[in-house]
Amino acid sequence: MPKISVTVDGVNYQDEVESRTLLVHYLREQLGKTGTVVGCDTSNCGACTVHLDGRSVKSCNVLAVQADGREVTTIEGLAQDGQLTPVQEAFHQCHALQCGFCTPGMIMQATDLLNTNPDPDEAYVRQQMEGNLCRCTGYQNIVKAVLQAADNSPASEQS
Ligand code: FES
Ligand code: FES
Repeated sequence: MPKISVTVDGVNYQDEVESRTLLVHYLREQLGKTGTVVGCDTSNCGACTVHLDGRSVKSCNVLAVQADGREVTTIEGLAQDGQLTPVQEAFHQCHALQCGFCTPGMIMQATDLLNTNPDPDEAYVRQQMEGNLCRCTGYQNIVKAVLQAADNSPASEQS
């Protein structure tokens, strides 16, 4: 089996994986990173979204071997020293979840969105989040949370 060396949430792992193992299954089953979830088998829900070298990807659409030599961040690696990120804080404050199943992927996608464009308008947020499905909320509070996080982000305060 191929051996991979991958940094996940700041920790380096060296593991043997089957060539066909999906990144999401490697994260959940070999590393125990169950914060990243599987919400479909058609690559369209976005619940499995993580960052690969800082950009969001659907980890059910990436092979674990493709992460070799690269850096993965999951929802479990976002908060530092117990301090929520602006996006996590805004999801909490805006009540941007009901069952919460979509939330890890939503937050990872929103984080990438704001890293790319710290001052988005609502249309941009909706367009960039369209690969993430929520079966509960109707999206209103999710969009509100992303816009609130943009207002509270350090990049926005500098501008
Ligand atoms: S589990 Fe990856 S897109 Fe649905
Ligand atoms: S909060 Fe339930 S799927 Fe989004």
